[in-house]
Amino acid sequence: MSEELKKMAAKAAMSEVKSGMRIGLGTGSTAKHFVDYLGAEVANGFECLCVPTSEVTAAQARSLNIPLTTLDEIDSLDVTVDGADEIDDQKQLIKGGGGALLREKIVAAASGKMVVIADTSKQVEQLGAFPLPVEVNKFGLGATQNAVQAIMDEFNAEGDLKVRTDENGAPFETDGGHLILDASFGRISDAKALSDALLNVPGVVQHGLFIGLCAKAYLASPDGVVEIG
Ligand code: 5RP
Repeated sequence: MSEELKKMAAKAAMSEVKSGMRIGLGTGSTAKHFVDYLGAEVANGFECLCVPTSEVTAAQARSLNIPLTTLDEIDSLDVTVDGADEIDDQKQLIKGGGGALLREKIVAAASGKMVVIADTSKQVEQLGAFPLPVEVNKFGLGATQNAVQAIMDEFNAEGDLKVRTDENGAPFETDGGHLILDASFGRISDAKALSDALLNVPGVVQHGLFIGLCAKAYLASPDGVVEIG
């Protein structure tokens, strides 16, 4: 996705925020542009209190003097603006390409409204071409991998299951100190049933299927930004 399209979607989502709001800040290259736009508004006197969904976003927000808080200090947010790896026509999402899915889901669930920003290449008829990130506890990794593989078999996954690694080839560690399994399903026909099955595995902390959380999406293409929802 070109930076220009990411910026277009991020800018369009600025219409969702008003001074005085409590805002969840997403993670990823598209959400980064939204945080930049918000920072520019804050420099002009816009008031907000924000909860970041990752340490990377927190550092960016601090550098822009965006006031931050936590979900210990406040119990809800007005809106969260975040990117996505896939979005279907029911606004079901796959998220977690950047590894922030757990905090992203906690923050989205605590928000009155979750708004997705992306380009139209993220729009899919059926979720699953993007490998589903599954965040797992380090303890019992082998047993958890076996259990997730069994679920993949049950759901007719077309691809494999991999422990995500970082640029040095070491296991990628999330902000919460967990690992990520990337599960290539190819197609996910029943996202809710898959979600339930994965959450039933004791070692699974969370997964990147966001069901019933996204209220609106701004999807950018070279022709402009389409608003969905
Ligand atoms: C991070 C995410 C991101 O929102 C998702 O990966 C999209 O990122 P980008 O805007 O860079 O394409 O879920 O965990």
